[in-house]
Amino acid sequence: MSHIQPACIAPSILAADFARLGEEVRDVIAAGADWIHFDVMDNHYVPNLSFGPMVCAALRPHTDAPIDVHLMIEPVDSLVEPFAKAGANLISFHPDASHHVDRTLSLIRDHGCKAGLVLNPATPLHHLDYVMDKLDLILLMSVNPGFGGQKFIPTTLDKVRQVRARIDRWVDQGGQPIRLQVDGGVTATNIREIRAAGADTFVAGSAIFSKEDYAAEVQAMRAEILAADSLSA
Ligand code: DX5
Ligand code: ZN
Repeated sequence: MSHIQPACIAPSILAADFARLGEEVRDVIAAGADWIHFDVMDNHYVPNLSFGPMVCAALRPHTDAPIDVHLMIEPVDSLVEPFAKAGANLISFHPDASHHVDRTLSLIRDHGCKAGLVLNPATPLHHLDYVMDKLDLILLMSVNPGFGGQKFIPTTLDKVRQVRARIDRWVDQGGQPIRLQVDGGVTATNIREIRAAGADTFVAGSAIFSKEDYAAEVQAMRAEILAADSLSA
C-alpha cells in the first residue's frame, strides 16, 4: 500500500531577500508553509556559495518550524555538529560528497537530527541500498544542484514513482516511515503531477519568493496537491 505522508511545503530561502532573512522566514511560515529549506553551497561540491551554520543559528529564534538543511558541500561530516547546534531539525547530504555514507547518516542522527540522502538527476537509486534503515527522508533533485530558478527536469517523475515504490515496500515490511522530497523547479503548475507520482515533501524557492503574496502561492500549491490526492483516492 502507499505510505505517502501528508504534504509538506518547504520554501527554499535561497530565493528570499538575504538582507531581510529573519522577516522572510517569519512571513513565509505565517503564509502557511511547513518547513524552512536551507540550501548550503560551498563552491566546491557545487559552483555557488550560500550560507552556513551561523546564519542557521541566527534564523533559529525567528520560527518554531523545522529547519531542513540541504548540504551541497564536500566533505560533509565536519559540518554536521555545527548545524545540529545551530538548530537544524533535518540534515540531508549527497552520497557522492561523503566517503562513508553510513557513518555520516549515523552521525546526523547521533546529533539528534533527522537524516536525509539526496540524489542528483543522474545519480542512480542503488545508493539507497543498505541504508534504508538510517533514512528519515530521501530527496530527489529535479534540477542540477547549485542554483535556484532552474527548470524542472521531467524524468524526475519516473524516479519519484520508483522511490515511492521502494519506500512503500520498506514500510510494508516493517520499516520506519521515510519522507520523499523533491527539490528544484517546483511550481503550482507542476506540483500536482509531482504529488501524483508519490512525493510528499516539496521544496519551492523562486516559485514562492518571487511572488508578492506568499500565502496565495502556498494555497495554490496545496489546492493542486489536494486535487492530485482526490484523483488518486
Ligand atoms: C538547488 C537547491 C534548491 C533550489 C530550489 O541547488 O537545492 O533548493 O534553491 O529553488 P527553485 O525552487 O527556485 O528551483
Ligand atoms: Zn535544496
